[in-house]
Amino acid sequence: MSVERFKLSQMRLRTHEAYNRAKERDQQFLGDDPRHLDPWDYRGDRGVDDYSKYLPQFEGKTFVEHISEKNQQGAEVTVLDIGCGQGITLAQLQQRFPAIKTYGISATDMRQDNVPEDLRSFVDQIDYRVGDIHHLRKFFKDERFDIIVSLRTFVHLGDPLSVLKQSYALLKRNGVAFLDEPGIWLEMADAPTLRNIWQADGANPEFDGFLGSTLDLFGANGLTPTRSNVFCSSHLAIRKESDNPHLSMPFVHAFPKTPNFENLQPYDFQPPNTKDTKPVSRQVRRHLERQQRKKDRKHKIR
Ligand SMILES: C[S@@+](CC[C@H](N)C(=O)[O-])C[C@H]1O[C@@H](n2cnc3c(N)ncnc32)[C@H](O)[C@@H]1O
Repeated sequence: MSVERFKLSQMRLRTHEAYNRAKERDQQFLGDDPRHLDPWDYRGDRGVDDYSKYLPQFEGKTFVEHISEKNQQGAEVTVLDIGCGQGITLAQLQQRFPAIKTYGISATDMRQDNVPEDLRSFVDQIDYRVGDIHHLRKFFKDERFDIIVSLRTFVHLGDPLSVLKQSYALLKRNGVAFLDEPGIWLEMADAPTLRNIWQADGANPEFDGFLGSTLDLFGANGLTPTRSNVFCSSHLAIRKESDNPHLSMPFVHAFPKTPNFENLQPYDFQPPNTKDTKPVSRQVRRHLERQQRKKDRKHKIR
């Protein structure tokens, strides 16, 4: 074996061992309850470039561009990473924007795992909290955030919608959350209704989902999709545009949901029959459907 290949395999081995150690520690902390943690795809912190690539954008801009804009306005920008792993992404942000204040939460303290030397001092600046994300608001009683990010974490949660609700409550007015796989499953045609409900709460959501690849995944796992037109919002970016901390969750609660495909019990959207849901005009509906089709095409292969 060449020296390079040997080095590479040693590096992979070390990384793999670090992932396994982290997973085992988290499992000890959270117990075996499948509602709390799924070791599937349990990898470490991907860093700011991958976060930018995998997280949704809001109004056509990445979360880093939003941080940069807010940072230039002068007030202190607060950033929370839910499921922050080793804290690498937050440390890189801290390095790039020294005036911001970074916060992270993880099931166990992973700050010592494989953190590059040049980022250590920035990792130390993170307000890093350890605990179960299902009790997010308990960990952040006094803080409110301009930017919230979460990558590859909601898929491990037993009750992602409760965490989505709590995350939204933690946003400042005009704060934006950029969330990966927040656990929303709904019929394509219901997306504008959900948008309307959340707009009535004072929120401005941008969904981003995929249809084809979800169905392929079902197929690949030997499952038959039971609903013909299921839309999975693999991404959600949402801005809080009022002081109302409440975000409605009009879903049928099919608990427990685990992200493991043999046991997939998604939340089903239940469009309410309420007067306060503003009707969507045909023009707006067409516009939203066109946008959705564009996004579906973009995310078909992920
Ligand atoms: C797969 S890692 C993702 C790390 C990073 N966000 C990334 O994408 O590279 C999942 C992270 O979520 C955390 N996590 C998963 N379930 C959790 C829970 N119930 N409470 C607290 N943290 C949890 C883990 O501790 C870990 O930090």
